[in-house]
Amino acid sequence: MKTYDLIQATVAAVRERCSLQPKVGIILGSGLGAFADSLQDKVAISYGELPNFPISSVAGHAGRLVIGTLGDAPIVAMQGRVHMYEGYTPQEVAFPARVLCALGINSLVVTNAAGGINGSFKAGDLMLINDHVNLTCRNPLTGPNEDALGTRFPDMSTAYDPDLSDILRKTAARLSVPLQEGVYAWLTGPSYETPAEIRMLKTIGIDAVGMSTVPETIVANHMGVRVAGISCITNLAAGISKVPLSHEEVSETADRVRGCFTNLLAHFLPAIAQVPRRQR
Ligand code: HPA
Repeated sequence: MKTYDLIQATVAAVRERCSLQPKVGIILGSGLGAFADSLQDKVAISYGELPNFPISSVAGHAGRLVIGTLGDAPIVAMQGRVHMYEGYTPQEVAFPARVLCALGINSLVVTNAAGGINGSFKAGDLMLINDHVNLTCRNPLTGPNEDALGTRFPDMSTAYDPDLSDILRKTAARLSVPLQEGVYAWLTGPSYETPAEIRMLKTIGIDAVGMSTVPETIVANHMGVRVAGISCITNLAAGISKVPLSHEEVSETADRVRGCFTNLLAHFLPAIAQVPRRQR
C-alpha cells in the first residue's frame, strides 16, 4: 500500500472525530506535552485509535493527537512521538508528521529535549533550531518516491523556515524569553553520547544533540510545509556535564521550563497561523 493511501486513511479517521481544519501543527517532545492541555474546545484522540499511527513506549510521551484552538488559531498538537530507538523505521517515525501535513497545516513546529554542547548554553535554555545535521545515516525518504507527497530530491537549504524563525525571535524578545540559537544533530540513541562523541560534535559545529525531530522536519519539507524548531536544553551534554546523564534529569528540566516554554508557544503559534505554505 502506498504511504499516500495510509495517510489518507488516518486523515479520514481524524476528520470523523473533529471537523476543525488546523493551520499549525506542533510536535511536543519529552516532558513538553502539557502544552496541548491549554488548547480550547479541544478534541483528543489516542494514537491507538488512529489507524497506522505508531505508538510510543517512552515514559513522558502520552500519545494523543489534540486538536483545538489558541485564540482564533486552529492547532493540531502531537502529545508524544515515537523514536527510531524504539525499533521504528524513519518512515514510521515520520508518518504522524505526514498526517499533520495532510490535514492541511501550513507550518509545523517541532520541539524536543536536547543536550547542550555550545559553551554558552545552560540547562533550561530554549534554543531556536536554525539548521540540523543528520548523523544517523537514515532518511525517511528512502525508497520509491511518491510524487503525490513531494519531489524525489527536496531542497533542504531552508529546512527551518527563515520567516518562521524571524517571528519566533521577535515573539521571544517581546515576551522577554531568552532564546538561544543553533544547529541540532540527530543521533539514533538510546544510549547518550560519550564525551569523545560530544567533542567530535562540537568540532563539526553542533550546538545541541538529540534523538528526534529530524525525520519529521525532512518529511514536512518534502510536503512543502514550513518548519520551525525549538529545543529545550534539558542537560549539558556528556563530558560537559559534571554528573551522569539520565532521563530523570531531562524530565525534571523540561518540567522546570514548562511555564516559559508554554508561554512562548501560546504567542508564537497564533502569530504564524496566517503564514501560507511555501511556494514550490
Ligand atoms: N543527548 C541526546 N539526547 C538528549 C540529550 C542528550 O544529552 N538530552 C535530551 N535528549
